[in-house]
Amino acid sequence: MLKKNLIKTILVMLCMGFVAGSILKQDDFEQEVVDNKVVYYEKMVAITFDDGPSGTYTEMLLDGLKERGVKATFFLIGKNIENNEEIVRRMKEEGHLIGNHTYTHKELCSLDRNTIKMEIERTNSVIENITSEKVRYIRPPFGSFSEQVRWECKMTPIFWSVDTMDWGTTDVDKIVNETVKNTKSGDIILMHDTYYTSVVAALRIIDELQLQGYVFVTADELIIE
Ligand code: NI
Repeated sequence: MLKKNLIKTILVMLCMGFVAGSILKQDDFEQEVVDNKVVYYEKMVAITFDDGPSGTYTEMLLDGLKERGVKATFFLIGKNIENNEEIVRRMKEEGHLIGNHTYTHKELCSLDRNTIKMEIERTNSVIENITSEKVRYIRPPFGSFSEQVRWECKMTPIFWSVDTMDWGTTDVDKIVNETVKNTKSGDIILMHDTYYTSVVAALRIIDELQLQGYVFVTADELIIE
C-alpha cells in the first residue's frame, strides 16, 4: 500500500515537472534581483494603433488579433468613424481598448480652448454612442500635449515607448525586425492600422513576441495614472 502511494507520488511529481517544464519556460519571464532575491515576472507589452478605423485594413487586423488571442488598443480619429461604426462595435465586442485621437487629427497645443474641447468631446461622443462606455484615454496626435490641454480635456494621455515608424516605409521585414529588437517588457508599441504593410507587420511582430513569451495587454495596464 505504502509503496503504491509512493509510486503514485513520484508519478504525480513527474507529471507536474513535465507540465511546468512545458508551459513555464524561464525565458518567458523577466528576472530582477530585489532584496537579494530573484523575482520573476511576466513579460508584458501593449500594441496600439492610431488614426483608424480604416474601412480597408482594420477588419483584417481584427481577424488576425482574434486568431492570436491578442487584445490591442485603438486610438480613433472621430471623423474616420463615419461609415465604420460596425468596426468600432467589433473592437469593443472583442475586448480591445478604444481611445480618442481627436476628431480631425489636430495638434492640440496649437489650438484654442474651444477647438480643443470640440476635437475631443465630439470624438468621445461618437465612440460612446457606439460602445456605451466612457472613453478615458487619449493619444494626442504628434504627442502634442500640455498641462493646459490635460485640464481642458480631463482625459489621461497614453504615449508610446516603441515607435515602429510604420507609416514611413513599406518594408515589412524592416518594421518587424527593428520593433522586435527594440521591444522590452512594459513597452507600448505605436503602429497605424491605416496601411496594409502595417497590418502585416503588426501580426508578425505579435507572432515573434509571443514566441519570446510576451503577453499582450491593453495599454491602460502599462501606465501609471
Ligand atoms: Ni495619428
